[in-house]
Amino acid sequence: MISPASIDLVFETARVEEVIGDFVNLKKAGSNFKGLSPFSDERSPSFMVSPVKQIWKDFSTGKGGTVVSFLMEHEHFTYPEAIKYLAKKYNIEIEETEQSNEQKDQANERESLYLVSEFANTYFQKILHKTDQGKAIGLSYFKERGFTDDIIKKFDLGYSLNEWQAFTDEALKQGYKLDYLEKTGLSIVKDGKHFDRFKGRVMFPIKSMSGRVLGFGGRILINDKKAAKYVNSPESDIYHKSHVLYGIFHAKQSIAKEDNCYLVEGYTDVIQFHQTGITNVVASSGTALTSEQIRLINRLTKNITVLFDGDAAGMRASLRGIDLILEQGMNVKVCTFPEGEDPDSFAKQNTLQELTAYLTENAKDFIQFKASVLFEESKNDPIKKAETVRDIVNSIAKIPDRIKKEIYIQECARIMDISEEVLFSTLAQISKKEFQEENKQFKTEQRAFEVIKHQQPLEKVDVQYTLERKIIEVLLLYGNRTESFEDLVLKENDKGELVLEPVIHEAKVFEKVFLDLQDDEMQFTNPQFKNLYYTIIDTLNQNPDFNLKNFVNIVDAEMGTEITHILMEDERYTLDNWQRMNIFPKEKTHTVAQLVSETILSLRCFLIDQKVKDFQQEAMANIADVNKNILEEVKDYSGLKMLLSRKLNRVL
Ligand code: CTP
Ligand code: MN
Repeated sequence: MISPASIDLVFETARVEEVIGDFVNLKKAGSNFKGLSPFSDERSPSFMVSPVKQIWKDFSTGKGGTVVSFLMEHEHFTYPEAIKYLAKKYNIEIEETEQSNEQKDQANERESLYLVSEFANTYFQKILHKTDQGKAIGLSYFKERGFTDDIIKKFDLGYSLNEWQAFTDEALKQGYKLDYLEKTGLSIVKDGKHFDRFKGRVMFPIKSMSGRVLGFGGRILINDKKAAKYVNSPESDIYHKSHVLYGIFHAKQSIAKEDNCYLVEGYTDVIQFHQTGITNVVASSGTALTSEQIRLINRLTKNITVLFDGDAAGMRASLRGIDLILEQGMNVKVCTFPEGEDPDSFAKQNTLQELTAYLTENAKDFIQFKASVLFEESKNDPIKKAETVRDIVNSIAKIPDRIKKEIYIQECARIMDISEEVLFSTLAQISKKEFQEENKQFKTEQRAFEVIKHQQPLEKVDVQYTLERKIIEVLLLYGNRTESFEDLVLKENDKGELVLEPVIHEAKVFEKVFLDLQDDEMQFTNPQFKNLYYTIIDTLNQNPDFNLKNFVNIVDAEMGTEITHILMEDERYTLDNWQRMNIFPKEKTHTVAQLVSETILSLRCFLIDQKVKDFQQEAMANIADVNKNILEEVKDYSGLKMLLSRKLNRVL
């Protein structure tokens, strides 16, 4: 665990505009910076960075947040990865806490394994590019396969000399411990001797999402039936085959941007796609896809297109694995290549346009695809057909979304020429339990929705929503300021009349808001605002000098996003070049005190209005025996409303 002190230090030191500036070309725009959104393709900039508030907002996608959330969005780092990245950038030493000695040793050991792998990666590349054997054998092999220099460098491809100990000896000479060389599997230790695992192979480093080398795949160069075509790093503390996708580091950004991920089988498929110009592609490295691997993709997009080699047997085996993707609620398409072709060979023979066109034209929805493949196979065999129905409904049962499920049942009924009823009842049988569970949940959701519908007609919610949000904005911007508020109090004048008289008193903005709203027993209707409201009030109560900018760091991600949205709202107009066009949007001329009073009063007026309406309705309903009390209350509230309106007019 990274210590909270280190996290604070990172947040204090990191400048959002500097960090984002490494990824996005930012231009000064007033007190902000703006640039082209890195999350969408756009011509005119809608991406804003506020150095004052230390937050960013992308108006094209609605994303926004802190410097850390930017790195998590853009680089797909986890939270600790983002903190560590910033620490490295700003030369901050990270303090790790709550680690037992054992955990520390483990972390140190993992770090050592990473270092050894990084060394090996550099070494194999050096051998490929700088030695005669590397050039004559390794490099010429890659060239023969049609890989360009750029692509060989991009994927850090390398070569391991065709000698028993060349790599291990060099690593030992450089001070790397044999223990770590063995644990990463780079060296094999046997009877007190050591050997290079990847002797005489071309090397494909396998990298994590954030680009660290975890392991290697090594391909043999000759066609030898006895030797394995690929040798891969064994499982280690840093390499878990089932958690890794080859190419994810180079693909993550375009997967997010294209909102789709191509899934292929082999290292060379990934590389050839990149060379042709399609970069949102990863490989499962020849093994059955695992849910962890799917989760990696799921962080980036909901859409997967699985690309199958042009041999039917392999495809049928893989069809089953796809249910795992459906389970995670993702949309799956499949695309097959012509007989005898795989993604590598097909990409190599075609231009980017041809490849793209082929993929677009031939990608089919998975369920429809599976239904038609299986149907073709079994249409003349009733027993097989029954099996097929079960198989396909099994897949459909995995889809979490009810509506999608239903649509697929209808589709498949059509494709397989079978009645929807049969498919529905099979579905019910297969997933009886899940089905019931989900149904229950669906009903509760529906009921909850009805309650809301009943309580608040749409129009009401909108006004209230806006006002509640405004209160939060005021608190976030000025909550800890001390301001002079002019309060109007009812006083008796010389003539014995009741008049409103201004009284000036100083108060913290958050106290003023809290006390005023408490007066009306006002409750926030929006749960998120309510949550935010109490978080802010509590925090400021405990520490009135709390730096408001830090709220976004102490709340959870969802709330953080909401805060960012609220804070960036007023930056939006600076995106347009108002000044250049000599149009100046109306400035907020109010003082903070005026703004605060106005907001609170508006909300109070609104709420009282609601109350009056409610009472009136009640009175109408009970018109037969007009309830005197209700009328009294209406009168009271109407009076209060008038009072508040007068106050509000003074403020405005
Ligand atoms: N694979 C493996 N071990 C093998 C064969 C295959 O680990 N003995 C994995 C590799 O990750 C390989 C993938 O399965 O990339 C797909 O296998 P295949 O299609 O046979 O290899 P390609 O990557 O297409 O390699 P090439 O084109 O060089 O034959
Ligand atoms: Mn191949």
